[in-house]
Amino acid sequence: SLVTPQALFGAARMNSTGFDQSDEEALVRIEVARAALAEAGALTVRPATGTLHPVTNPATGEQIGEVLHCDAATVTRAIEDAQPWTAPAAERAEILRRAADLYEANFGAIFATLAREAGKTLPDAIGELREAVDFLRYYASEGEHATGTARGIIGAISPWNFPLAIFSGQIAAALMAGNAVIAKPAEPTPIIAALGVRLLHEAGVPVSALQLIPGRGGVIGTALASDARVKGLVFTGSTATAQTIARNMGANLSPGTPLIAETGGLNAMIVDSTALPEQAVRDVVNSAFRSAGQRCSALRCLYVQEDIAPHVIEMIKGAMNELVVGDPWAFATDVGPVIDTRAQSGIADYLAEHRARILHQLAVPASGTFIPPTMLRVTGIEDLDREIFGPVLHVATFKGEDLGRVVDAINAKGFGLTFGLHTRIDARVQEVAGAIHVGNIYVNRNQIGAVVGSQPFGGEGLSGTGPKAGGPNYLGRFFAPVPAPLAG
Ligand code: NAD
Ligand code: ALA
Repeated sequence: SLVTPQALFGAARMNSTGFDQSDEEALVRIEVARAALAEAGALTVRPATGTLHPVTNPATGEQIGEVLHCDAATVTRAIEDAQPWTAPAAERAEILRRAADLYEANFGAIFATLAREAGKTLPDAIGELREAVDFLRYYASEGEHATGTARGIIGAISPWNFPLAIFSGQIAAALMAGNAVIAKPAEPTPIIAALGVRLLHEAGVPVSALQLIPGRGGVIGTALASDARVKGLVFTGSTATAQTIARNMGANLSPGTPLIAETGGLNAMIVDSTALPEQAVRDVVNSAFRSAGQRCSALRCLYVQEDIAPHVIEMIKGAMNELVVGDPWAFATDVGPVIDTRAQSGIADYLAEHRARILHQLAVPASGTFIPPTMLRVTGIEDLDREIFGPVLHVATFKGEDLGRVVDAINAKGFGLTFGLHTRIDARVQEVAGAIHVGNIYVNRNQIGAVVGSQPFGGEGLSGTGPKAGGPNYLGRFFAPVPAPLAG
């Protein structure tokens, strides 16, 4: 089997009153999950070949499963086996809706897997399941009356930070357009991917229309990008990886083959002196530290107007002190671990390098891949040389007359994903929103957690190619282009 669980799940139970984590009788759903994962081999191409690798719980370092990292020959076999999904659109929509129902019904197994494998806190796991279900239902509705032609085989390459939601969203859109999908999950999170694919198959998606190929990005991704039988790639991950894929595709595929890429961000928020400090501070802390800062949308650089900055910074310190950092499976936890030891040491090195700028830092558990939530002083976003994908907030101050220069500096970084603005001046909202180059602008609220269907999500510049996920233009990219009429 491609993915085997070992001691995957702790006790968990769902009942009409909620979610009881401590009751040892509560293994019914866990057994369902174990069975699902034990069957994971049936999900994918055979024979699948490659090498076995451990899957670990980032909070404890404990091995929770094993995954076969497939080789390029397995990708070739998957491409040969792939069959576009020719069922009528209405039937495809019904099956995706059934899959959404199955995702919801299996919420316990999904939460447990997200916590154990991806280090998700329970609120984050709930949000992630909600988003996955929303994607399935939204693309089902968007596509059920569509008449376009499938492109053929679509490669779907996803990140570990939304290992169910983004993974399922890519798949749902490509399937709703009638394509065959070869899905490659991120290396740290193959088990939740296997669970999602199993539920999609159980709902009625044919195995030939959806195959799961876990493995190294450089192996699986390169094999998908360089095979002319793959008629499109949908990718979410880092900007650097998207650039590598684009080069691989450019070298090997016809120019009409799309690469839909959603990538990283260097996201800013401006808080001016008319803002309501309590609201701004709550939104800053959620945007920077929720999900341990491991969201592409997360706030990285906060600008606070000079006259209120000392007060606001003290309030942020106070709000940070309230954060509980620890075991993601515990109800009280606000901030879990980062995904693995590599991420942990990269961020720890960054913090050591910038030690002199630390304004505030929390303590974290001694074991597990935790990073202390940290606030660093900077002069501006120009001091950030890369996306630090963890719970690190940079804070700068600005004078009122320099607002335009702040916006220019944010634009100059070249990313364009999310932006937050806290102000009570309506004209300023219009002025700044008109000047800033980003995909998603949030005013007087946090800047994470776009809602599928009502807040289409995606960036510009180094942050993505568009079209926005969860929006009305997304599905169209998965259909073959309509030939232009002959000029008469
Ligand atoms: P990553 O780029 O390292 O990996 C993403 C996926 O690409 C993984 O499945 C990986 O195996 C695969 N991959 C790696 N090398 C490849 C190659 N040469 N060819 C093809 N595929 C390859 O990113 P990550 O660390 O998994 O995710 C974090 C990044 O994703 C952050 O930069 C974050 O901002 C970004 N992200 C963006 C969005 C968005 O919607 N814009 C959402 C989530 C995450
Ligand atoms: N869609 C996710 C968010 O908005 C990445 O936070």
